[in-house]
Amino acid sequence: MTTHTTHPITPLDAAAIRADFPILNQPLAPDQLPLVFLDSAASSQKPAVVIDALDDYYRRYNANIHRGVYQLSELATSKYEEARHLVAAFVNAASPTECVFVRNTTEAINLVAQTWGRRNLDEGDLVLLTVMEHHSNLVPWHILAEENGFEIAYVPLTSDQRLDMEAFEQLLTREPKLVAVTHVSNGVGTVNDVATIAAKAHAAGALVLVDGAQSVPHLPVDVQALDLDFLAFSGHKMLGPMGSGVLYGKKRLLEAMPPFMGGGGMIRKVTLEGTTYADVPARFEAGTPAVGEAIGLGVAVEFLTRLGMDRVIAHEREVVAYALDRLAEIPGLTIYGPTDPAHRSGVVSFTLGDIHPHDVAAILDGENVAVRAGHHCNQPLVRELGLVATTRASFYVYNTPDDVDRLVAALHKANKVFGLE
Ligand SMILES: Cc1ncc(COP(=O)(O)O)c(C=O)c1O
Repeated sequence: MTTHTTHPITPLDAAAIRADFPILNQPLAPDQLPLVFLDSAASSQKPAVVIDALDDYYRRYNANIHRGVYQLSELATSKYEEARHLVAAFVNAASPTECVFVRNTTEAINLVAQTWGRRNLDEGDLVLLTVMEHHSNLVPWHILAEENGFEIAYVPLTSDQRLDMEAFEQLLTREPKLVAVTHVSNGVGTVNDVATIAAKAHAAGALVLVDGAQSVPHLPVDVQALDLDFLAFSGHKMLGPMGSGVLYGKKRLLEAMPPFMGGGGMIRKVTLEGTTYADVPARFEAGTPAVGEAIGLGVAVEFLTRLGMDRVIAHEREVVAYALDRLAEIPGLTIYGPTDPAHRSGVVSFTLGDIHPHDVAAILDGENVAVRAGHHCNQPLVRELGLVATTRASFYVYNTPDDVDRLVAALHKANKVFGLE
C-alpha cells in the first residue's frame, strides 16, 4: 500500500515575484495607476532572467545550430539542446527526444494532424473532440476531415461547463481513433480530469492528444503519470518568449510519423531521386529554429521549477477564490464555468449586465487593468453560453489580491458609467 504524506505548501510570495518582471515595475507618470495585468491566458509577461537569456544569446553567441563547426555554433547548439532537456524534465517526458520545439500550441496540434492524422485517419474513422476546445484544437481536424473524410464527434458540456463524462463514455463505445481534449479551458477555466479521460480513451483503443496551453504553465503536468500520447503547449504563456512552444509525443508514435515540413535540418540524406529523414525530434524541426527563444523557454522552465508548480497552482487557486468572492458583490455580474473552485484554474470569464464585454474591457483599461474581451478563440463554447463574447480576467504567479481589488473597483466604475449602480 502506498502512503501519502501531505506537506503543507509554503505559499508563493507574489509581491516578491513581481519584482522580477520589468514590465510590472515601470516608472509611472504622476497620475498613472500601476498596471494590473490580467491577460496571462493570452500571453504571460516575462521575468528579467528570460529577457536576459534572449539578450545574452543575441549579444554573445548568436549562431545557427547543428551545422557550424565553430565555437559560437557549438555553444548555441548545446544551449538549445539543454533547453530541450529542461522542458522534457518539466513535463516528465521519458526522453528529451520526445519533445519537439515548435512555435506554439497551434503548430504542435497541426503537426499531429498533418502527420499522424493524415496517415491514420480515413473514411469510417472517428475523432472525438469537445465543445470547449480552442479553435486550434478544432480547425486542424476540420481541415483534415474535409480531405480525408473521417467523422468528428464532440463531448458535450454540463450546465456549469464541465465535460459530460457519461456522454464521453457513450461516445467511446463508437471506438474513436483519437481523443483530443484541452486540459484546461481558456474560455471558462474548467480543469478536465485528463488522467481519467486518457485511461478510458486508451481502454477504448484511442490515442490521446492533450492541449496543454492553459495547464502546463499553471499546474504540475506529468505526461507519464497521465499516460498522454501527445501534449501541446506554448512557451509564451509560461513566462517564455514568443515563438517558443513544444509538442511532446511518445517516442514510438513520433518515430512512426512522417515529416510535417520538409527542408534543411530534418533530413538524413537527399539525392535527386528522394530524401530519407532524420531521427526524431530533428525530423520535425525543419529549417532554422527559433534558437534564442527555445533557450529562453528553458530559462522560464527553470524559473517555474524554482517556484514549484504545486505552489503556482495553490497560489492561483487562492487568488481566484478571492476573486470569485469579491466579484459576487458586483451587481449584474455573471461568472461562467464550474462553481466548485476545485475544478477551476486561473481563468475567470464573466459578463456584466447588458454591457458589451469590449466596453467593459475598455473601461477597465482606463483604470490600467488589462483584461481580454471576445470569444477567446472559443466560438462554439461561447455560443453554447448563449453569448457572442465574455470579459476574461486570467491570473498568474505575479497577481495578488490587490490586483483583484483593482479589478473590482474598475468594474464598479463600469457599472456607474452605464448607470447600473
Ligand atoms: C487552450 C488553448 N489552446 C490553444 C491555444 C493556442 O495557443 P497559441 O496561440 O500559442 O498557439 C490557446 C491560446 O490561447 C489556448 O488557450
